[in-house]
This record gives sequence, structure tokens and C-alpha cells, in this order.
Amino acid sequence: MLEGTGSKLEVGTERALRLGPPTSVVLATCASKSGRPNIITLGRYMHVSNDPPLVAIGVSPKRHSHRLIEETGEFVVNVPPKALIKQIVLCGESSGRRVDKFELTGLTPIPARKVGAPLIKECVSHLECKVVRRYRTGDHTLFLGKVVAASVDRGMLKGTLDISRAETVLHKGGRYFTPKFFYGK
Ligand SMILES: Cc1cc2nc3c(=O)[nH]c(=O)nc-3n(C[C@H](O)[C@H](O)[C@H](O)COP(=O)(O)O)c2cc1C
Repeated sequence: MLEGTGSKLEVGTERALRLGPPTSVVLATCASKSGRPNIITLGRYMHVSNDPPLVAIGVSPKRHSHRLIEETGEFVVNVPPKALIKQIVLCGESSGRRVDKFELTGLTPIPARKVGAPLIKECVSHLECKVVRRYRTGDHTLFLGKVVAASVDRGMLKGTLDISRAETVLHKGGRYFTPKFFYGK
């Protein structure tokens, strides 16, 4: 129900999350104990502490990746450039329970330094994380990861990640992304 109050439009709480700014899109990698890797597309990513360096990801318990991260306590946050939009959508619409997403997308796994999950070569930067805490937050689990190693493509670091070169992607919901574009028909 939308009701006008002066210059403000009231929005039902079930639609409230649509009012936030777009969120970062990352490709998180994880692996089974036997070393079989997987990739999950996440819009729920943020950094939450400088010292120690901590990041948080929100993963639904329905995801195959949720089980892998629970099992190993490890994941990698890989930052994809806009050029990987097809792979971003593929990894967000297929499950590692049924497919090998590296095969499906043609992305290249390369070994991480400190965790079992691989880095994705085509991504521009990588945060290797060990889970230090987890919280059940409604229909998702918030995994808090301590960054134990990090790397970036040469030439992409200008103090921070050089966004004009890296061309990272933000998610608005569904297949809508920004800088403004819709992936698909
Ligand atoms: C742009 C985009 C953002 C997504 N963000 C999340 C997220 O933050 N958390 C989550 O649990 N699933 C998210 N998903 C859905 C998962 O990526 C999707 O369910 C995926 O198929 C799970 O793969 P898995 O079963 O191999 O783990 C997102 C999907 C897309 C396309």
C-alpha cells in the first residue's frame, strides 16, 4: 500500500529493502573438503572492520555454497569486472549441487595462498577469508570472515581499487544492475 505523506511516499516494509542503494556484486568461491570448488554470486557483501580486516557475506542456507562454507570455514571474495556479467548471472542462477560452475562459465580457478577455495583469475581482486563468526539473520546466514590474504591485478591499485579501470558492478535486484543495465531479454 503506497500512501503519500507530504513529499514522502510510504512503502510497505516487505518492499523496504528495495529502497536501499544498490549493493556490490561479488563472486564468492568455496570448496568441499575434498577440494571440489564452487562459485556463488552475492549481492550481500560488505566490509565491517579495518583492524582486524573483517568482511561479511549473507548466504541463504538453501545454497550449496552455504554447506561448503559451513564445512570448511573458508571462502574467497572475488571482485568481478562488468565484462563478466554473463558469468555473474550464470553463477547466480545455477547450483554447484548439479553443475561445475568453472566448467559452465569458462572461468579459471587459480590456487589461493591461505585457503582451500580457489581465486577466479578473471576477477580483479581477491580477499581470502576464514570464518570467525556466523549469525542466523532471518532467511540468511551472515558469515563474518577475517581476511587472511589479499591480491589484486597489477595496475588496478590506485590507493584503493581503481574503479574506473576495474569497472565493478552494483546490483539493484533480479537481473538489474548499475551502471544502468539489465541483463537478458
Ligand atoms: C546478482 C545476484 C546476487 C545474489 N545475491 C545473493 C546473496 O547475497 N545471497 C545469497 O544467498 N544468494 C544470492 N544470489 C543467489 C545465488 O547466487 C544463487 O541461488 C546460486 O544459484 C547459488 O548457488 P549454489 O547453490 O551453487 O551455492 C544472488 C544471485 C544474483 C544473480
